[in-house]
Amino acid sequence: MKTALENIGKAAAEALQSCSDPKELDAIRVRFLGKKGELTAILKQMGKLSAEERPVIGQLANEVRSRIESAVAEKSAILKEEQMSRQLEEEHIDVTMPGRKQPYGKAHPLTLVMDEIKEIFLGMGFDVVSGPEVEYDHYNFEMLNIPKDHPARDTQDTFYINENIVLRTQTSPVQVRTMETRRPPIRVISPGRVYRSDAIDATHSPLFHQIEGLVVDKGVTMADLKGTLEIFVKRLYGEDSVVRFRPHHFPFTEPSAELDVMCFNCHGKGCRLCKGEGWIELLGCGMVHPKVLQNCDIDPEEYSGFAFGMGLERVVMRRFNIDDLRLFYENDLRFLDQF
Ligand code: DAH
Repeated sequence: MKTALENIGKAAAEALQSCSDPKELDAIRVRFLGKKGELTAILKQMGKLSAEERPVIGQLANEVRSRIESAVAEKSAILKEEQMSRQLEEEHIDVTMPGRKQPYGKAHPLTLVMDEIKEIFLGMGFDVVSGPEVEYDHYNFEMLNIPKDHPARDTQDTFYINENIVLRTQTSPVQVRTMETRRPPIRVISPGRVYRSDAIDATHSPLFHQIEGLVVDKGVTMADLKGTLEIFVKRLYGEDSVVRFRPHHFPFTEPSAELDVMCFNCHGKGCRLCKGEGWIELLGCGMVHPKVLQNCDIDPEEYSGFAFGMGLERVVMRRFNIDDLRLFYENDLRFLDQF
Protein backbone atom coordinates (compact mmCIF):
# COMPACT_ATOMS: atom_id res chain seq x y z
CA MET A 1 0.00 0.00 0.00
CA LYS A 2 2.88 2.23 0.80
CA THR A 3 4.37 1.54 -2.61
CA ALA A 4 1.02 2.16 -4.24
CA LEU A 5 0.82 5.59 -2.53
CA GLU A 6 4.33 6.49 -3.55
CA ASN A 7 3.60 5.40 -7.11
CA ILE A 8 0.56 7.64 -7.18
CA GLY A 9 2.71 10.51 -5.95
CA LYS A 10 5.25 9.85 -8.69
CA ALA A 11 2.67 9.40 -11.42
CA ALA A 12 0.99 12.66 -10.43
CA ALA A 13 4.30 14.51 -10.47
CA GLU A 14 5.08 13.17 -13.95
CA ALA A 15 1.66 13.99 -15.30
CA LEU A 16 1.89 17.53 -13.94
CA GLN A 17 5.36 17.95 -15.37
CA SER A 18 4.19 17.40 -18.93
CA CYS A 19 0.83 19.14 -18.53
CA SER A 20 0.49 22.30 -20.64
CA ASP A 21 -3.11 23.45 -20.57
CA PRO A 22 -5.80 24.10 -17.97
CA LYS A 23 -8.17 21.40 -19.25
CA GLU A 24 -5.50 18.77 -18.97
CA LEU A 25 -4.63 20.04 -15.49
CA ASP A 26 -8.21 19.65 -14.41
CA ALA A 27 -8.27 16.09 -15.72
CA ILE A 28 -5.14 15.33 -13.69
CA ARG A 29 -6.69 16.82 -10.57
CA VAL A 30 -9.79 14.66 -10.97
CA ARG A 31 -7.72 11.58 -11.76
CA PHE A 32 -5.61 11.77 -8.60
CA LEU A 33 -7.58 13.80 -6.08
CA GLY A 34 -11.21 13.38 -7.20
CA LYS A 35 -13.88 11.43 -5.32
CA LYS A 36 -13.40 8.55 -7.74
CA GLY A 37 -9.69 9.28 -8.02
CA GLU A 38 -6.76 6.98 -7.46
CA LEU A 39 -5.91 8.31 -4.00
CA THR A 40 -9.45 7.87 -2.73
CA ALA A 41 -9.51 4.36 -4.09
CA ILE A 42 -6.46 3.50 -1.97
CA LEU A 43 -7.82 5.17 1.14
CA LYS A 44 -10.97 3.11 0.87
CA GLN A 45 -8.86 0.06 1.52
CA MET A 46 -7.49 1.48 4.80
CA GLY A 47 -10.04 -0.61 6.73
CA LYS A 48 -8.12 -3.76 5.87
CA LEU A 49 -4.99 -2.50 7.62
CA SER A 50 -3.85 -3.37 11.09
CA ALA A 51 -4.10 -0.83 13.93
CA GLU A 52 -0.33 -0.14 13.80
CA GLU A 53 -0.20 0.28 10.04
CA ARG A 54 -3.20 2.53 9.75
CA PRO A 55 -1.72 5.79 11.22
CA VAL A 56 1.52 5.31 9.25
CA ILE A 57 -0.26 4.79 5.96
CA GLY A 58 -2.80 7.51 6.87
CA GLN A 59 -0.02 10.02 7.41
CA LEU A 60 1.70 9.02 4.18
CA ALA A 61 -1.59 9.29 2.29
CA ASN A 62 -2.11 12.80 3.68
CA GLU A 63 1.39 13.81 2.69
CA VAL A 64 0.94 12.48 -0.84
CA ARG A 65 -2.41 14.26 -1.10
CA SER A 66 -1.06 17.62 0.04
CA ARG A 67 1.99 17.26 -2.21
CA ILE A 68 -0.25 16.64 -5.21
CA GLU A 69 -2.57 19.48 -4.17
CA SER A 70 0.17 22.04 -3.92
CA ALA A 71 1.76 20.81 -7.17
CA VAL A 72 -1.60 21.21 -8.92
CA ALA A 73 -2.01 24.72 -7.44
CA GLU A 74 1.49 25.67 -8.52
CA LYS A 75 0.95 24.36 -12.04
CA SER A 76 -2.36 26.17 -12.22
CA ALA A 77 -0.68 29.47 -11.32
CA ILE A 78 2.02 28.90 -13.93
CA LEU A 79 -0.50 28.08 -16.62
CA LYS A 80 -2.57 31.18 -15.80
CA GLU A 81 0.48 33.36 -16.06
CA GLU A 82 1.47 31.81 -19.35
CA GLN A 83 -2.03 32.32 -20.67
CA MET A 84 -1.98 35.97 -19.56
CA SER A 85 1.35 36.74 -21.19
CA ARG A 86 0.24 35.00 -24.38
CA GLN A 87 -2.90 37.13 -24.42
CA LEU A 88 -0.95 40.31 -23.79
CA GLU A 89 1.36 39.39 -26.64
CA GLU A 90 -1.55 38.74 -29.01
CA GLU A 91 -3.42 41.91 -28.08
CA HIS A 92 -0.40 44.09 -28.32
CA ILE A 93 -1.18 47.42 -30.01
CA ASP A 94 1.51 49.60 -31.44
CA VAL A 95 0.22 53.03 -30.54
CA THR A 96 2.97 54.67 -32.52
CA MET A 97 1.72 53.20 -35.81
CA PRO A 98 0.39 55.84 -38.22
CA GLY A 99 -3.44 55.84 -38.45
CA ARG A 100 -5.46 55.04 -41.54
CA LYS A 101 -7.17 58.14 -42.86
CA GLN A 102 -10.98 57.98 -42.95
CA PRO A 103 -12.25 60.32 -45.64
CA TYR A 104 -15.17 62.45 -44.46
CA GLY A 105 -18.33 62.42 -46.52
CA LYS A 106 -20.20 65.65 -47.18
CA ALA A 107 -23.83 66.55 -47.47
CA HIS A 108 -25.07 66.54 -51.07
CA PRO A 109 -25.80 70.05 -52.39
CA LEU A 110 -29.48 69.13 -52.75
CA THR A 111 -29.53 68.09 -49.09
CA LEU A 112 -27.71 71.24 -48.00
CA VAL A 113 -30.27 73.56 -49.56
CA MET A 114 -33.21 71.32 -48.64
CA ASP A 115 -32.11 71.51 -44.99
CA GLU A 116 -31.82 75.27 -45.24
CA ILE A 117 -35.35 75.55 -46.65
CA LYS A 118 -36.72 73.24 -43.94
CA GLU A 119 -35.04 75.39 -41.28
CA ILE A 120 -36.63 78.55 -42.65
CA PHE A 121 -40.12 77.06 -42.52
CA LEU A 122 -39.57 75.36 -39.17
CA GLY A 123 -38.64 78.82 -37.91
CA MET A 124 -42.03 80.08 -39.10
CA GLY A 125 -43.89 77.36 -37.19
CA PHE A 126 -44.35 74.82 -39.98
CA ASP A 127 -44.14 71.04 -39.46
CA VAL A 128 -42.31 68.80 -41.91
CA VAL A 129 -44.49 65.92 -43.18
CA SER A 130 -44.02 63.30 -45.86
CA GLY A 131 -46.03 61.06 -48.13
CA PRO A 132 -45.43 58.01 -50.34
CA GLU A 133 -43.62 58.24 -53.67
CA VAL A 134 -45.72 55.42 -55.09
CA GLU A 135 -49.10 57.12 -54.90
CA TYR A 136 -52.71 56.54 -55.81
CA ASP A 137 -53.99 58.37 -58.85
CA HIS A 138 -56.75 59.40 -56.42
CA TYR A 139 -54.34 61.50 -54.31
CA ASN A 140 -51.96 62.59 -57.04
CA PHE A 141 -54.78 63.87 -59.28
CA GLU A 142 -58.44 63.28 -58.42
CA MET A 143 -58.52 64.81 -54.95
CA LEU A 144 -56.54 67.78 -56.28
CA ASN A 145 -59.33 68.59 -58.69
CA ILE A 146 -57.56 66.99 -61.66
CA PRO A 147 -60.05 64.44 -63.06
CA LYS A 148 -59.09 61.80 -65.63
CA ASP A 149 -59.79 63.93 -68.71
CA HIS A 150 -58.18 67.11 -67.34
CA PRO A 151 -55.61 68.74 -69.66
CA ALA A 152 -53.30 69.33 -66.67
CA ARG A 153 -52.54 65.60 -66.77
CA ASP A 154 -50.82 66.04 -70.12
CA THR A 155 -48.32 68.50 -68.66
CA GLN A 156 -47.19 65.93 -66.13
CA ASP A 157 -45.96 62.88 -68.04
CA THR A 158 -46.87 60.28 -65.52
CA PHE A 159 -45.27 56.92 -64.78
CA TYR A 160 -48.20 54.58 -64.23
CA ILE A 161 -47.71 51.47 -62.08
CA ASN A 162 -51.24 50.44 -63.00
CA GLU A 163 -54.47 52.22 -63.76
CA ASN A 164 -54.85 53.48 -60.20
CA ILE A 165 -51.29 53.77 -58.97
CA VAL A 166 -48.60 56.19 -60.18
CA LEU A 167 -45.18 57.47 -59.21
CA ARG A 168 -46.24 60.81 -57.78
CA THR A 169 -45.66 63.63 -60.25
CA GLN A 170 -45.77 66.30 -57.54
CA THR A 171 -45.67 66.62 -53.74
CA SER A 172 -49.20 68.12 -53.78
CA PRO A 173 -50.89 64.79 -52.85
CA VAL A 174 -49.32 65.19 -49.41
CA GLN A 175 -51.58 68.26 -49.00
CA VAL A 176 -54.59 65.99 -49.31
CA ARG A 177 -53.14 63.29 -47.06
CA THR A 178 -52.40 65.95 -44.45
CA MET A 179 -55.86 67.50 -44.58
CA GLU A 180 -57.39 64.04 -44.27
CA THR A 181 -55.50 63.29 -41.08
CA ARG A 182 -55.12 66.69 -39.40
CA ARG A 183 -57.68 69.33 -38.62
CA PRO A 184 -56.90 73.05 -39.02
CA PRO A 185 -54.90 74.97 -38.06
CA ILE A 186 -52.52 73.24 -40.48
CA ARG A 187 -49.09 74.59 -41.29
CA VAL A 188 -46.84 72.05 -43.04
CA ILE A 189 -44.17 71.68 -45.67
CA SER A 190 -43.51 68.40 -47.42
CA PRO A 191 -40.24 67.89 -49.23
CA GLY A 192 -39.59 64.82 -51.35
CA ARG A 193 -38.85 63.08 -54.62
CA VAL A 194 -41.24 63.27 -57.55
CA TYR A 195 -41.19 61.54 -60.94
CA ARG A 196 -42.05 62.50 -64.48
CA SER A 197 -41.40 60.67 -67.68
CA ASP A 198 -39.11 63.38 -69.10
CA ALA A 199 -36.03 62.75 -71.22
CA ILE A 200 -32.84 63.62 -69.34
CA ASP A 201 -31.04 66.81 -70.33
CA ALA A 202 -29.33 69.74 -68.62
CA THR A 203 -32.58 70.97 -67.08
CA HIS A 204 -34.78 67.84 -66.94
CA SER A 205 -34.63 64.59 -65.04
CA PRO A 206 -37.28 61.87 -64.58
CA LEU A 207 -36.58 62.13 -60.85
CA PHE A 208 -36.43 65.47 -59.12
CA HIS A 209 -37.40 67.09 -55.83
CA GLN A 210 -40.20 69.37 -54.78
CA ILE A 211 -41.14 71.13 -51.59
CA GLU A 212 -44.83 71.52 -50.97
CA GLY A 213 -46.34 73.96 -48.50
CA LEU A 214 -49.84 74.14 -47.02
CA VAL A 215 -51.50 76.47 -44.54
CA VAL A 216 -55.17 76.08 -43.57
CA ASP A 217 -56.92 78.02 -40.86
CA LYS A 218 -59.80 80.42 -40.29
CA GLY A 219 -59.35 83.69 -42.14
CA VAL A 220 -56.24 82.85 -44.17
CA THR A 221 -55.93 85.25 -47.11
CA MET A 222 -53.80 85.93 -50.17
CA ALA A 223 -51.97 88.50 -48.04
CA ASP A 224 -50.77 85.67 -45.76
CA LEU A 225 -49.56 83.77 -48.81
CA LYS A 226 -47.65 86.77 -50.15
CA GLY A 227 -46.18 87.71 -46.77
CA THR A 228 -45.07 84.20 -45.93
CA LEU A 229 -43.47 83.54 -49.31
CA GLU A 230 -41.77 86.92 -49.44
CA ILE A 231 -40.18 86.30 -46.04
CA PHE A 232 -39.13 82.86 -47.21
CA VAL A 233 -37.43 84.22 -50.33
CA LYS A 234 -35.62 86.92 -48.33
CA ARG A 235 -34.34 84.36 -45.83
CA LEU A 236 -33.20 82.09 -48.67
CA TYR A 237 -31.69 84.65 -51.06
CA GLY A 238 -31.03 87.68 -48.85
CA GLU A 239 -32.98 90.67 -47.51
CA ASP A 240 -32.56 92.68 -50.71
CA SER A 241 -34.34 90.11 -52.88
CA VAL A 242 -37.31 91.41 -54.83
CA VAL A 243 -40.30 89.18 -55.62
CA ARG A 244 -43.35 89.50 -57.84
CA PHE A 245 -46.49 87.42 -58.14
CA ARG A 246 -47.80 86.64 -61.61
CA PRO A 247 -51.33 85.29 -62.21
CA HIS A 248 -51.31 81.65 -63.26
CA HIS A 249 -53.53 78.59 -63.20
CA PHE A 250 -53.42 75.39 -61.15
CA PRO A 251 -56.47 73.13 -60.82
CA PHE A 252 -56.09 72.87 -57.03
CA THR A 253 -55.76 76.59 -56.23
CA GLU A 254 -57.99 79.58 -56.95
CA PRO A 255 -56.70 82.15 -57.50
CA SER A 256 -53.29 80.82 -58.52
CA ALA A 257 -50.00 82.57 -59.06
CA GLU A 258 -46.37 82.05 -59.81
CA LEU A 259 -43.70 83.75 -57.77
CA ASP A 260 -40.67 85.20 -59.53
CA VAL A 261 -37.49 86.55 -57.96
CA MET A 262 -35.74 89.48 -59.58
CA CYS A 263 -32.54 88.22 -61.23
CA PHE A 264 -29.65 88.78 -58.80
CA ASN A 265 -27.26 89.03 -61.67
CA CYS A 266 -28.81 91.86 -63.73
CA HIS A 267 -31.38 93.22 -61.24
CA GLY A 268 -34.25 93.00 -63.69
CA LYS A 269 -32.50 94.24 -66.81
CA GLY A 270 -32.24 90.84 -68.46
CA CYS A 271 -29.09 88.74 -68.84
CA ARG A 272 -27.97 85.25 -69.75
CA LEU A 273 -28.74 83.82 -66.30
CA CYS A 274 -32.41 84.86 -66.48
CA LYS A 275 -32.56 84.33 -70.26
CA GLY A 276 -33.24 88.00 -70.82
CA GLU A 277 -36.34 88.00 -68.60
CA GLY A 278 -34.97 89.98 -65.66
CA TRP A 279 -36.96 87.61 -63.40
CA ILE A 280 -36.53 84.00 -62.40
CA GLU A 281 -39.55 81.79 -61.77
CA LEU A 282 -39.34 80.15 -58.35
CA LEU A 283 -42.61 78.48 -57.41
CA GLY A 284 -46.32 77.96 -57.99
CA CYS A 285 -48.84 78.95 -55.36
CA GLY A 286 -52.42 79.95 -54.69
CA MET A 287 -55.40 79.81 -52.37
CA VAL A 288 -56.48 76.20 -51.79
CA HIS A 289 -59.45 75.51 -54.10
CA PRO A 290 -62.73 75.16 -52.15
CA LYS A 291 -63.32 71.83 -53.89
CA VAL A 292 -60.02 70.47 -52.53
CA LEU A 293 -60.96 71.56 -49.01
CA GLN A 294 -64.37 69.93 -49.46
CA ASN A 295 -62.77 66.73 -50.74
CA CYS A 296 -60.93 66.55 -47.43
CA ASP A 297 -64.01 67.26 -45.36
CA ILE A 298 -62.94 70.79 -44.45
CA ASP A 299 -65.72 73.36 -44.75
CA PRO A 300 -64.59 76.10 -47.21
CA GLU A 301 -67.15 78.46 -45.65
CA GLU A 302 -65.31 78.22 -42.35
CA TYR A 303 -61.70 77.67 -43.40
CA SER A 304 -59.39 78.89 -46.12
CA GLY A 305 -55.79 78.19 -46.95
CA PHE A 306 -52.88 78.72 -49.25
CA ALA A 307 -50.47 76.30 -50.84
CA PHE A 308 -47.24 76.42 -52.78
CA GLY A 309 -44.89 74.07 -54.53
CA MET A 310 -41.35 74.58 -55.72
CA GLY A 311 -38.71 72.53 -57.47
CA LEU A 312 -35.54 72.08 -55.46
CA GLU A 313 -33.04 71.42 -58.24
CA ARG A 314 -33.47 74.81 -59.85
CA VAL A 315 -33.03 76.60 -56.55
CA VAL A 316 -29.79 74.73 -55.89
CA MET A 317 -28.50 75.30 -59.43
CA ARG A 318 -28.98 79.00 -59.01
CA ARG A 319 -27.45 79.04 -55.56
CA PHE A 320 -24.20 77.37 -56.64
CA ASN A 321 -24.15 78.44 -60.26
CA ILE A 322 -24.55 74.90 -61.56
CA ASP A 323 -25.57 74.74 -65.20
CA ASP A 324 -26.32 71.04 -65.61
CA LEU A 325 -28.77 69.21 -63.39
CA ARG A 326 -27.33 65.82 -64.33
CA LEU A 327 -24.35 66.59 -62.09
CA PHE A 328 -26.61 66.09 -59.05
CA TYR A 329 -27.19 62.42 -59.85
CA GLU A 330 -23.87 61.22 -61.24
CA ASN A 331 -22.12 60.79 -57.89
CA ASP A 332 -18.90 62.24 -59.24
CA LEU A 333 -16.77 63.12 -56.20
CA ARG A 334 -14.93 65.82 -58.13
CA PHE A 335 -18.28 67.63 -58.24
CA LEU A 336 -19.65 66.65 -54.83
CA ASP A 337 -16.42 67.55 -53.02
CA GLN A 338 -16.93 71.23 -53.86
CA PHE A 339 -19.79 71.82 -51.43
N1 DAH B 1 -47.74 70.81 -57.89
C1 DAH B 1 -47.41 71.90 -58.80
C2 DAH B 1 -46.46 71.38 -59.85
O1 DAH B 1 -45.88 70.34 -59.70
C3 DAH B 1 -46.76 73.01 -58.05
C4 DAH B 1 -47.73 73.74 -57.18
C5 DAH B 1 -48.41 74.85 -57.66
C6 DAH B 1 -48.01 73.31 -55.91
C7 DAH B 1 -49.30 75.54 -56.87
C8 DAH B 1 -48.92 74.00 -55.11
C9 DAH B 1 -49.56 75.12 -55.62
O2 DAH B 1 -49.20 73.62 -53.88
O3 DAH B 1 -50.42 75.77 -54.84
O4 DAH B 1 -46.30 72.03 -60.85
